[in-house]
Amino acid sequence: MPRRRKRDLIIKGFSKLLKEDKVRIVSELMDKQVESMDLMKSFWHEDYKMQKIFDEFSENTISNFYIPYGVAPNVVVNGVNHLVPLVIEESSVVAAASSSARFWSEHGGFRAEVVDVVKIGQVHFLWKGDKQKLLSVFDELKSVLREGTKHITANMEKRGGGILDFELVDLTNQLDNYYQIKVSFDTADSMGANFINSCLEEFAIELKSFFKNNDAFCDKEKECTIIMSILSNYTPDCLVRVWVECSFKELDSLDSELTGEQFAQKFETAVKIAEFDIHRATTHNKGIFNGIDAVALATGNDFRAIEAAGHTYAARNGGYKSLSSVENKDGRFKFILEVPLAMGTVGGLTNLHPLAKHSIEMLGSPSAKELMQISAAVGLANNFSAVRSLVTKGIQIGHMKMHLMNILNHFEATEEEKKKAVEYFVGNKVSFANVSEFISKLRKS
Ligand code: MEV
Repeated sequence: MPRRRKRDLIIKGFSKLLKEDKVRIVSELMDKQVESMDLMKSFWHEDYKMQKIFDEFSENTISNFYIPYGVAPNVVVNGVNHLVPLVIEESSVVAAASSSARFWSEHGGFRAEVVDVVKIGQVHFLWKGDKQKLLSVFDELKSVLREGTKHITANMEKRGGGILDFELVDLTNQLDNYYQIKVSFDTADSMGANFINSCLEEFAIELKSFFKNNDAFCDKEKECTIIMSILSNYTPDCLVRVWVECSFKELDSLDSELTGEQFAQKFETAVKIAEFDIHRATTHNKGIFNGIDAVALATGNDFRAIEAAGHTYAARNGGYKSLSSVENKDGRFKFILEVPLAMGTVGGLTNLHPLAKHSIEMLGSPSAKELMQISAAVGLANNFSAVRSLVTKGIQIGHMKMHLMNILNHFEATEEEKKKAVEYFVGNKVSFANVSEFISKLRKS
């Protein structure tokens, strides 16, 4: 019989315990109890009030998890130079964004435009009635729904947003009796998730009583079953387009072995591959989200929502493909990214997290539309750097430089040892085994 491990025990009422008790219980379940407790506590913020803010972002918080907060300078978007905060654990992403931003700052910068900022929410319901009857009273229903949410929308309307429109979607061919009220929203400078969901839950209540109390409907039609009310993270109409362009000649400096024109052609081929090969497309788009997610995290935006929308958008025509594209024409190279980005600069974590607030200030307190443009520019910057490396020297040279530091830190190398290692590994292959051997030789000598 295998011995029952301590960790297999079911813990009841954990969320109701004091933080100290939660930390103690977790440590007791670890093999190195004292070290575990000390480690978790060592990452608590020394300012109690500040720590309380972090604790309350989530449930069962027992410590903080640090991720580097970096900066990419020289991100010129529509002629404005930005210092962009990036929160990311992957070595080389900030370096890649920075080197690309620097290059493009001297070649016209990033151009960007927001195509639209529409967000969608849905009330999903089952109704056994005559659709034509529902359509005939739909205008009346819309007014009822608007009226019923005035207490929620008043504030948003003052800020320039609100409910845009309602649509009845008949999906009875997919699922018996299944309809949606599909609502479009403008949430101004906020991400707007709470606003949208609050409106939708109110619509659901109003919808139920509209059926019940309307004489247009027979008894059977007075009943409706609300299945759920929730925003959609697919936001194809909350879309931003960003691009860079220059002459082939201006690309001459990018590689010692390729002319600018050859570079542009090789780059275009690499991007074309990501337009039909899903394995390459996924990695290609991951490179774009390296930058976008890092800005989203730094500014307190929901990177999971952004990623979900981006990948769905990449598959909008039935096959998953690259979000960016290249146009090489008349001696000019143009690299374009089109991506849905539902981002906000007010409300939620953007105001609560001290570093998110700081990031927004570092960016010059942009509107949501400006933040969409900056984030997309960083996504394109990272994508450019990645594909540039891939079609020239490969990515391992750059990656390994950063990787070397991680390995050296693993061996707790001193500054002096790091300096020697960096010199040595300029011409030698970086691998865990090689660095380990180098450090032990160095320490013996
Ligand atoms: C690594 O995080 C991202 C890349 O793999 C992106 C790409 O291949 O385009 C370098």
